[in-house]
Amino acid sequence: MNSLIEVKDLYKVYDNGLIQSLNGITLTLKAGKIYALMGASGCGKSTLLNLIGTLDSPTSGEILYDGKYLNEVRSLSTFRRDFIGFVFQFHHLIPVLTLRENVESALLSNRKVSAKERRERAVALLDEMGILHRADSYAAKISGGERQRGAIARALVNNPKVLLADEPTGNIDSKTSKLILKKLRDHVEQTAGTILIATHDNDVADIADVIIKMEDGKIISQEENPRMEKK
Ligand SMILES: Nc1ncnc2c1ncn2[C@@H]1O[C@H](COP(=O)(O)OP(=O)(O)OP(=O)(O)O)[C@@H](O)[C@H]1O
Ligand SMILES: [Mg+2]
Repeated sequence: MNSLIEVKDLYKVYDNGLIQSLNGITLTLKAGKIYALMGASGCGKSTLLNLIGTLDSPTSGEILYDGKYLNEVRSLSTFRRDFIGFVFQFHHLIPVLTLRENVESALLSNRKVSAKERRERAVALLDEMGILHRADSYAAKISGGERQRGAIARALVNNPKVLLADEPTGNIDSKTSKLILKKLRDHVEQTAGTILIATHDNDVADIADVIIKMEDGKIISQEENPRMEKK
């Protein structure tokens, strides 16, 4: 099966080595699979997502993207835009833009997408997320869960092969969370992509294909979800 992300012996230390956030992570993310990344607060989940998402660089170790090293990529910004979608732990919608404008903003630098298509894609995703009625509200003036869903719509609008989601269901009720997880499953199937979700939420673990557990910057187990294998 196609490996979209290969992480090899990744280390990340902060404050001149005082804080060891990642202690030798090796991990492969394959096409068509959803991975749940679990573990106690401070074990390194967000750090790992940030490194895979190219938002920060490792102290040592390597990450391959669809078989390529980052320094082989021609334009880092285009690569980021088209290959990786990121849902932040603390959703970073732009408060002075409306929800629809926030989603459209992820497509702005893509000259292949017209203004009309940008709008249509944003509206379709907001609808699927159940927040179309808030499309014209400013992000500062909607609820936490609505913002969270807006952030997911924004991350998906470019159809990225790799979606990295940091606690995407953190502030969300169980019914809405199931709707989001269904949408993420559809996305993985339609794009033959992969999703890595850092989470404390057992609903996420339930629908993941693989459950990865971390402790003190290390992966302590990685198991296929028996519930998903049966399907
Ligand atoms: N920029 C930073 N500078 C220094 N230390 C950091 C930095 N970012 C994270 N850390 C530390 O690295 C460790 C891992 O943090 P990380 O945010 O990856 O944890 P996490 O597993 O995502 O936790 P949570 O479940 O609370 O979100 C923690 O001890 C944290 O305090
Ligand atoms: Mg975190």
